[in-house]
Order: sequence, then C-alpha cells, then structure tokens
Amino acid sequence: MDGFICVNERAGGHAGERTAQRLMADLKDLGKPLICAGGVGDPQNFRDALDLGFVGVQMGTRFIASQECAAHEDYKQAILKATADDIVLTRKLSGTPCAIINTPTMEKIGTEVNPIELKLLKNRHTKYLMRTVYALRSLWSLKQASTKGLSYKDFWQAGKSVDGIKAVESAQDIVWRFALAAQPASVSE
Ligand SMILES: Cc1cc2nc3c(=O)[nH]c(=O)nc-3n(C[C@H](O)[C@H](O)[C@H](O)COP(=O)(O)O)c2cc1C
Repeated sequence: MDGFICVNERAGGHAGERTAQRLMADLKDLGKPLICAGGVGDPQNFRDALDLGFVGVQMGTRFIASQECAAHEDYKQAILKATADDIVLTRKLSGTPCAIINTPTMEKIGTEVNPIELKLLKNRHTKYLMRTVYALRSLWSLKQASTKGLSYKDFWQAGKSVDGIKAVESAQDIVWRFALAAQPASVSE
C-alpha cells in the first residue's frame, strides 16, 4: 500500500512549511493513507492527529528521549526542558531549514547563513552542491553533539513536540501509552 508522510511545520529535523490541518486539507482528496509527521509528543497529540484523519504518525523527537536511544543524556534532558518556543529553524546544518533546539551556542552563531551562501543555496545550478557541502560539514558536528554532550557544538535536532515530552521513557512504554490513546473512549477510560 502506498501513502504519504506529511511532514508539517512542527516537525523536528527537516520540517515542512504547512500545518497538519493544511496538509490534510490539501492531500485528502488523493485518497491515499496520510501519516502525520511533526508535533506529536504526547498521546493527546496522537489522538488529535487521528481525529484530523491521519491513519498514523511518524515521531522522531519523542523517541530521542527514550531509554533505548543512544543520544547523549544532555540531548535528552534538553528535549525535556525545551518548549515549542525554543525550537528554531536553521539552514546551517544542511542548507535547508532544519528544526533544532535553540541553545546558547546557536544563539551565538545565529541560525542564518550569510547572503552569498543563501543565494547559492537558492540558485538552481548550485543548490545541490551547496547542500552536499553543508551536509558533510554538519555530519561530524551533529554526531559529536548527539553522542558526546554539551562540550561539543550543540546542534540538537528536535521538533515542537517537545512540549508534550516530560520524561525519558522506554520505547515500549511510549508506544503503549500512545496505543491506549488510539482506542475508542469507552475502551481507554
Ligand atoms: C534527529 C532527527 C533526525 C532525523 N533524520 C531524518 C532523516 O534522516 N530523514 C527523514 O526523512 N527524516 C528525518 N527526521 C524527521 C523525522 O523522520 C520525522 O519526520 C520528524 O522527526 C517528526 O517530527 P517530531 O520530531 O516532532 O516527531 C529526523 C528527525 C530528527 C529529530
């Protein structure tokens, strides 16, 4: 079966531009299963996505703050502490807008690329080369940040779903709580 992953503007990593509601309105007439990616951090968000008409969700940020995830404890704690207002978009990682937690390091270096780089990123002849350069450059620092903590450049990708994430839990507990929320009210209550 084919369908669409609908990455919305609340997603972590490479975020979309449209809201979940807008994506549903724009794509529902295609008659394909739609998966909501972005903004789902707690069971209520999951329920809301199902109520909008999505058949499921794709979560990234929620599972970083899980016991099984190999990410550094600093990264997990930053997700627990962050609110949606702490999530900013930067082109500095890959050349395309990427949602990360605004840390003191990010505030210092800024989230925007310089005007010449921006022009090259938008030019149809140079944009793919530029994105490759950015991706290679950021690969190392992202790896360091996710596994070695705050002494390294803290590029921590996360979405606005941080709002609903309050504890580091096992992946099993997360899935179980979300599954309960998907049950009809009479079963889950
Ligand atoms: C650290 C991180 C890395 C990601 N890497 C990829 C990726 O390589 N390819 C991709 O299609 N999406 C990637 N995503 C996006 C997720 O697949 C998903 O769409 C997104 O995380 C949903 O938003 P959420 O983080 O609020 O749950 C990444 C997200 C995060 C947080």
